[in-house]
Amino acid sequence: MLTDKFNRQIKYVRLAVTDRCNLRCTYCMPEHMKFVQKDKLLTFEEMIKLMEILAQNGVEKVRITGGEPFVRSGLIHFLEQLVKIEGIKKVGITSNGVLLEEHLEVLNDLGIKDINLSLDAVSRSKFQEITRRDDFDKVMSSLKKMIKMDFNVKVNMVVMDSKNTDQIIPLALLAKNAPIEIRYIEEMPFNGTGREVSTTWNYKDIEEVLFNEFSDFEKIKTNQPSTAQIYQTKFLKGKIGIIPAFSRTFCGTCDRLRITSLGQIRNCLYSKDGLDLRALVRSDMSNQEIVDEIQNHLYKKKKSGWEEEEDNNQLDSMSMIGG
Ligand code: GTP
Ligand code: 5AD
Ligand code: SF4
Repeated sequence: MLTDKFNRQIKYVRLAVTDRCNLRCTYCMPEHMKFVQKDKLLTFEEMIKLMEILAQNGVEKVRITGGEPFVRSGLIHFLEQLVKIEGIKKVGITSNGVLLEEHLEVLNDLGIKDINLSLDAVSRSKFQEITRRDDFDKVMSSLKKMIKMDFNVKVNMVVMDSKNTDQIIPLALLAKNAPIEIRYIEEMPFNGTGREVSTTWNYKDIEEVLFNEFSDFEKIKTNQPSTAQIYQTKFLKGKIGIIPAFSRTFCGTCDRLRITSLGQIRNCLYSKDGLDLRALVRSDMSNQEIVDEIQNHLYKKKKSGWEEEEDNNQLDSMSMIGG
């Protein structure tokens, strides 16, 4: 079992399968993004090998992220192999939904039912302004089909001052008759997006808008370590989540490990220090030696990653780290 110094068992891995994306969300990347050379990415074979090693050491849950996972060719074949790994109980995907619809039947058959969909506006023009692309209809169509097919859907909205705060309530209403979770994420300032973030809406500001709209809006207590604080109201069939990604009130219970598209292990979204897994899987090291290296790196995981690096608020792009 992989554990850190604070006896947190690592059961959850986030795996970024690409840094590329078919959208250009302003909070994530500039229009002319410089992507990583393809041979620098882990191959799918290397990812399967790593996931087998991690599953043998207690990892049970994987979330596939990016970039946009569906722009990498061969993804479905990779997922078919991933779900077969002994010990992996749950596979989820975070996607922008543009290419999702045509794959839903296969995902359903593979038992991949946990889809987190990035959607920052329900107005077509705002969507286009934020993503710099005109793919709103495709995303909405994927969302409708996922609801119809009973996927466990979480919609992620990054809340940006004077860009989409007027979309908070319209987005919540997507859960009026559907058992989905609408999650509001504090914007995190990233290096290289070209977007100046002067005022961030924090979780309290977001909470206030929802409190004002729904009279019985109420926090639900959960024991699960999670990034999101969950709320409910009788006015919605689904639930609301707020993710204090910038305030980071959840770090103490963090049981996750991230593998970036370059194959680096990062203990925290905010850590700069990574372990180069790509070099390890391309070497002649035995599986046990690889596990020992991962375990050593994990011992460096801080209680709350960011506390000791308060000046460290500028990050590499999320599309490379994988969220
Ligand atoms: P499931 O629990 O598998 O549904 O996925 P998830 O809820 O873990 O997705 P998650 O909450 O991790 O991701 C949603 C968003 O939360 C990400 O896109 C980031 O914006 C933010 N986030 C995720 N992990 C971290 C983290 O370690 N630190 C910070 N600050 N933000 C994070
Ligand atoms: N701030 C907060 N969340 C971000 N994401 C990407 N960039 C940022 C940012 N600057 C998250 C969004 C998206 C997921 C892929 O990454 O939630 O849904
Ligand atoms: Fe693509 Fe996601 Fe970044 Fe938007 S946030 S540009 S959808 S990787």
